[in-house]
Amino acid sequence: MEIDWTALTAEAKKAMERAYAPYSNFPVGAAALTDDGRVVSGCNVENASYGLGLCAECSMVSELFRTGGGKLVAFACVDGNGDALMPCGRCRQLLFEHAAEGMLLQTISGIKPIEEVLPDAFGPRNLKL
Ligand code: THU
Repeated sequence: MEIDWTALTAEAKKAMERAYAPYSNFPVGAAALTDDGRVVSGCNVENASYGLGLCAECSMVSELFRTGGGKLVAFACVDGNGDALMPCGRCRQLLFEHAAEGMLLQTISGIKPIEEVLPDAFGPRNLKL
């Protein structure tokens, strides 16, 4: 499948513009292509109780399920300037759970598969006894 990274980044930017980030002033947008061709996106949503803030990837995964589920095949994340942003550690785990094998991420050092940004990951397979 040919990935339109420009379009995916544009979706992430659009989501970033909806961020609720009054405490960090660090809006984030995330967007992903699903295995059935949908694009899902999300923005960070902070809280006065700081630790409750949700990363952009969290709302993106909610949209994944709200719109029919499936697996993610390509992912892009941007900061307030629209520049590529690496997902935080927690979100790499979150993405791994819902990633198709070899899901590609646009990173600050090029396109990489999820297995490279979360090596030797713990995941659903570990729980199959
Ligand atoms: N943030 C995300 O939304 N995703 C990430 O992967 C990195 C961090 C948000 C959380 C918080 O609202 C803000 O960026 C500053 O940490």
